[in-house]
Amino acid sequence: MIVAQITDTHIKPRGALAYGRLNTAPFLAAAVAHINTLDPLPDLVILTGDVTDGGAPEEFDHVRELLAPLTPPLIALPGNHDRRETFREAFRDRADMPEHGHLSYAEERFPLRLVMVDDTVPGQPHGEVTAELADWLEHTLAAASGKPTLVAMHHPPFITGIGHMDVQNCRGSERLAAVLEKHPQVLGLVCGHVHRNILTAFAGKPASVCPSQAHAVSLALTPDAPPSYHMEPPSLHLHRWHDDATPFGSLLTHQSFIGDIDGPHSFAMK
Ligand SMILES: [Fe+2]
Repeated sequence: MIVAQITDTHIKPRGALAYGRLNTAPFLAAAVAHINTLDPLPDLVILTGDVTDGGAPEEFDHVRELLAPLTPPLIALPGNHDRRETFREAFRDRADMPEHGHLSYAEERFPLRLVMVDDTVPGQPHGEVTAELADWLEHTLAAASGKPTLVAMHHPPFITGIGHMDVQNCRGSERLAAVLEKHPQVLGLVCGHVHRNILTAFAGKPASVCPSQAHAVSLALTPDAPPSYHMEPPSLHLHRWHDDATPFGSLLTHQSFIGDIDGPHSFAMK
């Protein structure tokens, strides 16, 4: 099973620019076209938040138009730039989301179970795993403890070294770790928010941040570096799970670059 992850698409109303200069829409269109050409086609696409730049209804209308050509099914999580009310309206036909409160849910249709954790805090740039959300996650994981599971959330619960992003990461990480450590069926944690390809371990699990398909947060590891972005080569993550002799199978992550890439070329000598 292959799960494609896209994230932080920051879609504006049609014709509007992010930060006064960046048209994010063609980057999502290119990501959709790229996914549709992958062979094998991913079984599922997950979109891990900051789908829009401001959460406005006309932004979600634009998102739906851009996602319409996508061939595989897609499920999504809100980020701090989205708003739960408009997000719920935009994606309620794709996933069984709660009618009130945080938009966390489980996707059960595939051999790899996806648990989508909405860690957003309304009106705030940071995320948080509250005691209530940790209880929901414990209950949800315990309900299918024999099934291999991938957990997704917007904000990473770990320090990246990019200071202006670390102050708005996911708080309550100790509560999250305590739950994940109890569940060996959780094979990994995948996040967005930082707009970069980042790999680490969290609670003894592989953990990653998927790059945005538009702009990258600048790789600035000095503590006081001001917030900025670079236009790096766009890419997405492909999480590949396969059944093997281990109790829950194996999961790994590939980075797939989007755009006009030179190749393939034969390794054979001419
Ligand atoms: Fe974000």
